Amino acid sequence: MIRADLATIPTYVPGRRLVDATKLSSNEVSFSPLPAAVDAVTEATQGANRYPDMGAVELREALAEHLEVEFDQVTVGCGSSALCQQLVQATCAQGDEVIFPWRSFEAYPIFAQVAGATPVAIPLTADQNHDLDAMAAVITDKTRLIFICNPNNPSGTTITQAQFDNFMEKVPNDVVVGLDEAYFEFNRADDTPVATEEIHRHDNVIGLRTFSKAYGLAGLRVGYAFGNAEIIAAMNKVAIPFAVNSAAQAAALASLNSADELMERVEETVEKRDAVVAALGAAPTQANFVWLPGEGAAELAAKLAEHGIVIRAFPEGARISVTNAEETEALLQAWEAINAG
Ligand SMILES: Cc1ncc(COP(=O)(O)O)c(C=O)c1O
Repeated sequence: MIRADLATIPTYVPGRRLVDATKLSSNEVSFSPLPAAVDAVTEATQGANRYPDMGAVELREALAEHLEVEFDQVTVGCGSSALCQQLVQATCAQGDEVIFPWRSFEAYPIFAQVAGATPVAIPLTADQNHDLDAMAAVITDKTRLIFICNPNNPSGTTITQAQFDNFMEKVPNDVVVGLDEAYFEFNRADDTPVATEEIHRHDNVIGLRTFSKAYGLAGLRVGYAFGNAEIIAAMNKVAIPFAVNSAAQAAALASLNSADELMERVEETVEKRDAVVAALGAAPTQANFVWLPGEGAAELAAKLAEHGIVIRAFPEGARISVTNAEETEALLQAWEAINAG
C-alpha cells in the first residue's frame, strides 16, 4: 500500500527528552516566551473557532518591514522546516537533484527524497565547514536547489563572504539557493553572507529564518522565508492551507515587536558559549550549540545523561546546545565529573 522508496528515506530523529534532565539536544533556548507573546497567544485562542488568517497578513507585513523587503517577498510557514520542504516542492520534480552539505540539518535529505528528488550530500571539510568547491562541482543540469546552512547545524561554522560570492558565480541563475539562517541571531561572524543582503544581489537566493530558536517559540511552529517574489509565490502554492495557526501568528508578531528584549537574552547564550567552547576544547561556534566531531558521541551522551544532561549524538560527533548561565553551569559540572571519573 505504501510507495516502495519510502523504506529508504531516513526518519527525522528529534533531540532526546529525559524527564527532569537538562535538555541540550535540540538547540532550543531555555527561557519561556515573553509575557507579551503569552498574552497574544491567550487572546488568539479566544478566536480559535475560526480559521487563522491564511495569508498571515499582519505577521508578513511586520516581517517585510523588519527585513526591508516588499510584502510579496516574504512568506511564513509551519516552522522553517516546512519552508525548506516547500522550497524543495516548489523547485523539484521527480529525479531532480538537491545539493546540501553533510552533516547538516537532517531534514534536507528527507525533504528531497519525499519529493522524489535525489539528495546530493557533500561532506563537510576537515574543519567542519561547507565544501563549497565540491558543492559547485556536483551541479548538473538536474540540480534545482542547493541548501547552504549558515551557521551550519551541527558544526556551528560559517562561510565567508568571499567564499559565498565565489560559489554564487558558479551557480546557474536558474538554480535556487536556500540560505538557511535558522541560527542567524546568534551569529557574530563579521565576514559572512547575510540573506537580507544576498537576496538583493541574487534573484535565485531565498533566505530562511525561524522563530523557533532565538525567539523561543519552537513549540508554536513558525518560520519565514524571503527573497524573489516569484519563488515566494511558488512556495505559497505548495503550502498546506492554514499551516501557521493563529496562536503562532500572534506570538510571532508580539515577539517581533519585542525583538530588542529577546536579543538581550540571546546575548547571554553568546557569552556562555565561549565558556563552553573553552571548557570542552571545542572549535569556535556561531550558533547556540557546540560541536565535538569524531567517534564516541553516543558514549559521551550516555555518560552526560547519567549526570542529567541530554545532548545530541550523531555518527559524526556530538552536538550540545548552549543556553543560559544555570544550565551551562550544570553542563560544565557534569563535564568535569565525567572527566574526573
Ligand atoms: C539549520 C536548521 N534549519 C531549519 C530548522 C527548522 O527549524 P523550525 O522548523 O523549528 O523553524 C532547524 C531546526 O533545528 C535547523 O537546525
